[in-house]
Parts: sequence; structure tokens; C-alpha cells
Amino acid sequence: MIQTTPPNGSSNYLSIESADGALLESLSEADIIPAFKRHGALLFRGFRFDLNGLSQFTSRFCSRFVRNESGRRSQVSADGTTQSVNLGTEPFPLHPELSRVPWRPDVAWFACASPPSADGETLVCDGVQIAESLAETTRSALLGRDVLYTEETPMGAFTEWLGIAPPDDAMLTRLSSESPFKFQRRDGRIFREFTRPFLHRPLFCERKAFGNFLLFARYMLGTQKFPTFEDGSIIPEKVAEEIREVSERLTVAHRWRTGDVLMLDNSRFLHGRNGVRDPAERQIWTQFGYAAFLEEDDPRLAEPWRYTDDALSIFFGPHARDLAGTARAV
Ligand SMILES: [Fe+2]
Repeated sequence: MIQTTPPNGSSNYLSIESADGALLESLSEADIIPAFKRHGALLFRGFRFDLNGLSQFTSRFCSRFVRNESGRRSQVSADGTTQSVNLGTEPFPLHPELSRVPWRPDVAWFACASPPSADGETLVCDGVQIAESLAETTRSALLGRDVLYTEETPMGAFTEWLGIAPPDDAMLTRLSSESPFKFQRRDGRIFREFTRPFLHRPLFCERKAFGNFLLFARYMLGTQKFPTFEDGSIIPEKVAEEIREVSERLTVAHRWRTGDVLMLDNSRFLHGRNGVRDPAERQIWTQFGYAAFLEEDDPRLAEPWRYTDDALSIFFGPHARDLAGTARAV
């Protein structure tokens, strides 16, 4: 028997629970996809699965998966698709997964193989609720703004990855026309940048959401420069503080049980965690994927990272490999 419980005062996800240990794989896309689009966050509880069964299940919803290469994660599945969460103990501020790169995945999966006996809750917060709970003056000021992510691209990325000479400005313009990044030279160094709306429309919802790297950058990394506003100006501390305060009020701390699976719309929901007491007992598997159920006319279907693992093509655009091949052949 399967029971569903809508979001309520103590949760912000739809809970789908099996009382008799049904197989996770027995759930149908027809049941799950409409609920996921509507609520943006689902909890599956009481279902049976192993690592292979989890991957079989998630592959029905995601066309491909992306790895998070940030440190302190271990590989769980042989293909690297399933990773552990970060194995440290520190608390993490709210963030969408990989919002600091253009190829942010659509769906974040978290599956609990072994729950912490205390602490280590995963934090879950709806970015739509955050955007709608800001002061009206803040919200209207942010609606017209973008966030800008700027990072240096070392010369080796061009010379070693692409096999080309240090790029001149014409080459940077050419690469920028196909890459999700714009490459710019400043003081003899090359930087890549991309922008996103400060408050954006999530994949399956008409309402605007907050969801970017700001809180993690400010309150974990201590940087004000990644992201900035689109003109390079610092996002005022007052704005970051208001977003932090509002989101803390709206956050649900999920206490894990063995077999829990969270499926989050990563374009709408943010996640984080409370401090971990014992990383050895907190075993949570993650997968980050691209939704296989976008509408046929969704313009995001043109994004190359939905179809290829080829880092060169994703980073420099679809013809980067031709460029690299040509350069190496000469
Ligand atoms: Fe994360």
C-alpha cells in the first residue's frame, strides 16, 4: 500500500510512502512526473532498492547524469554516476547543485544507505518560497538583475586541451560564440563568465525562484566576488542577509531513515546540511541528472550537456573537438 502526504507545516516535499516495502522500481513515471512538476520535491520512503535498482529507477527520469568533481566525495557506482555526498563534517549553506557552472543539472537525487544517528540532517528549501517571501522592495529590485560568475581560465585550457596557440582576441570571440561562457582578456589573463537571472523561472513553474551560488559563496567560502551582479558590482551584504534570514525560516531539516530517497527539482529547490557528527555512519548516495521529461518545445533541449559527456564540447562549444583535431593534425 502506498500513501502520499502533501507538503505541510513540517515538510516542503510530497511524501510517497510504502507501508510494505514495495520495490522502488515498481513506481511508474505516470505517477511521479506530474507530482514532481507540481511540488518540485518528492520523498520516497519505505521502498526497497539496491544501488543497481536505484540507477534503474533514476534513469527512467534522467537522460544523463553529471558528476560533481568537487573534492571529498567518493565514487559509489562503477560508472561514477552515483557518488557519496561530501564526506566532511561541516554544515553547508543552501545551494542548488552546480549552479556555479552553466550546465546546472535539473534533478538532484539523494538516497540514504545509512542514516546518521544524530545531526547531519539535509536541509531542503523551496526557492519559489524564498523569492516570494522577500521584502517587496528587495524582490522588485532583484527582478531586473542578473548574477555574474567570473573565473580565470588558465592558458593551459586553450593550449593543452585544444592544442592551439595562446588564443588571440579573434579566437576568443570565435570560442565565445559557441561556448556557454564568454571569454575575455584582462591584464593579460583570460576569464570566462556567464550570467543568469537573479530570480529565475524554474523548469516546471511559472513563478520566479531564488536559487544560485550566493549563500554558499558568502557563508561557506567567504567570497563576495562569485557571483556578483551582472555589472561586476558586489551584491550588498544586506541583500544576502535578507535572503539568508528568509530562507532559514522556510527550510526543512530532513531527518534521514534508511531507504529514503529525495528527488529535488534542482532548478527550484536548494539543499544544504546541518553539521555531521560521524561521517562514517552518514552514507548518502547522490546523482545529478538532466530531466528526460521536458516538453518537446522546451528551448533547453538545445543545451549540449544534455547529450554528451565530452567536456571539451560542453566547455568550448560543439565544434571545439574539430578545432582541437585540426590544430593537432597540423
Ligand atoms: Fe550539494
